[in-house]
Amino acid sequence: MAAGPDPGFFQTIYTSRALRRFKPLPVPDEVLFQVLDAAIRAPSGQNAQDWRFLIITDPATKSKLQEWALEGWGHYRARFGDDAAIDALPRSQRLSLRSVEHLAHHLAEAPVLILVLGLAGRHSTPGGSAFPAVQNLLLAARALGLGGSIFNLPLGRREELHELLSIPANNQVYCLIPLGYPADRQGPVQRKPVAEVVFDNRFGERWAFAEKQPPEGWQERWLRPE
Ligand SMILES: Cc1cc2nc3c(=O)[nH]c(=O)nc-3n(C[C@H](O)[C@H](O)[C@H](O)COP(=O)(O)O)c2cc1C
Repeated sequence: MAAGPDPGFFQTIYTSRALRRFKPLPVPDEVLFQVLDAAIRAPSGQNAQDWRFLIITDPATKSKLQEWALEGWGHYRARFGDDAAIDALPRSQRLSLRSVEHLAHHLAEAPVLILVLGLAGRHSTPGGSAFPAVQNLLLAARALGLGGSIFNLPLGRREELHELLSIPANNQVYCLIPLGYPADRQGPVQRKPVAEVVFDNRFGERWAFAEKQPPEGWQERWLRPE
């Protein structure tokens, strides 16, 4: 599937949301390579680059991960109650949860799963040297017309996962990212306003400039029909 024109940096940022439903289309190797070649341009502590990315396309492995995802979903959904309780949630939360549920049931159909790993104990802020690459990966995927999201529900069975994928004991699993051509639309993303989460010099001190900006931010400056 050919990528459309590069949506541009800010259009990409403002429209990269978690997409969890995929069309049954393969992701060509040259697209996947571009995604991963962008991922590894990220910074890491001491430039260690100890990240490792496992591309998972094997049907039997994907099925096993789906089985574990359903276990994870069972634990996660218990927080919300039964189906009626989920249906009563605010729309955006309900839709998001339904998309998580969908992916838990269809993980094996996702064209590609990427497992992100790094050396255990290598960094004083574990994850700080993996997630910049994860974000590069997700933004590159979005720019190329792919959809994806971090999806950690299948990662509960740590030892079995290590065994299944021959992961050395000195490697830590950070996250799983299913990727594919999305069946749902890209962004825009809903976030708390800058004024609510950014402070001026002291914690809790409002930033006057941000208070004068629209609560939805400046996305209107960048969002264009694609
Ligand atoms: C560290 C981390 C872990 C996440 N784990 C999961 C997960 O296990 N399952 C899932 O469906 N989404 C997971 N997500 C995705 C978030 O739920 C999603 O990015 C967030 O709700 C914003 O969604 P939106 O961009 O569509 O608004 C995770 C995101 C991060 C950063």
